[in-house]
Amino acid sequence: MAATQARVEAALARQLPAADSIPARLNDAMRYAALGGGKRVRPLLAFAAGELSGAPAAHLEVVASAVELIHAYSLVHDDLPCMDDDVLRRGRPTCHVEFDEPTALLVGDSLQTLAFELLASQPLGDPARQLEMLALLAHASGSRGMAGGQAIDLAAVGKPLTQPELELMHALKTGALIRAAVLLGALAGSPLSADERNNLDRFAKRAGLLFQVVDDILDCTASTATLGKTAGKDEAAAKPTYVSLLGLDAARAYADELRADALAALAIFGDRAARLTQLADFICHRQF
Ligand code: IPE
Ligand code: IPE
Ligand code: MG
Ligand code: MG
Ligand code: MG
Repeated sequence: MAATQARVEAALARQLPAADSIPARLNDAMRYAALGGGKRVRPLLAFAAGELSGAPAAHLEVVASAVELIHAYSLVHDDLPCMDDDVLRRGRPTCHVEFDEPTALLVGDSLQTLAFELLASQPLGDPARQLEMLALLAHASGSRGMAGGQAIDLAAVGKPLTQPELELMHALKTGALIRAAVLLGALAGSPLSADERNNLDRFAKRAGLLFQVVDDILDCTASTATLGKTAGKDEAAAKPTYVSLLGLDAARAYADELRADALAALAIFGDRAARLTQLADFICHRQF
């Protein structure tokens, strides 16, 4: 994990605009938001999924960086006063606190477009497959993916959601990008069989939902110091979560169920899925 995290950190550092280039404040803020923090779970998933299809590390680096840039953008916007209004992220002041709101808005815009510039401008083998990858990341990021989930999240404040409604919100706001990371990692190598693709997709969807269920649990069980973001925000902001819907014990049981389901989908891959298995365990049992 550490080696992949370091590799992605270096790739991002190379791809982001230099801090002292014009416009320096925006570039500095982009680097602040994207570098030097985060678990890099999406890049780790992309690299692990790449082991299923024998993807070259150079291709995985591009795919992993593109997904992480979208993720970093989503966090900057998620923290804005007009959204979750958070002051702490990855143990540091949020982007709009360290810089200012207009800059944070532009950081999000610029990280998002840099992700697509990167994915479009590096050769990744078969051009038709590269177009498929671009479309997949775009779909996962927009109104039918992450941004759509964020819209549901904002509209749901103070409202009790049913479990299917909550599942849709989580599958979109967080699940879509996690799924994209997994699928893009696999797409960066040799084609999988239809059966393998279906099972990998099931894994990716379960892992994505699991990730947000655990985020909900940690929000009300972990400390601000451990999380690097303000704990207890969901209850304070009246967000519907798996904890508010099911209670803590049932939310934990549901997380275990999702983990088991995710792992079952990997059976078809045998030993090639060792790293994805470890990551599902990490997503389920992480402390932050
Ligand atoms: C936090 O994501 C936002 C969610 C989608 C739940 P991460 O927990 O992956 O945040 P970092 O990248 O490690 O900071
Ligand atoms: C974040 O969900 C989802 C996205 C950033 C797309 P949260 O609002 O729960 O994430 P945290 O808890 O602030 O990291
Ligand atoms: Mg949010
Ligand atoms: Mg938030
Ligand atoms: Mg959260």
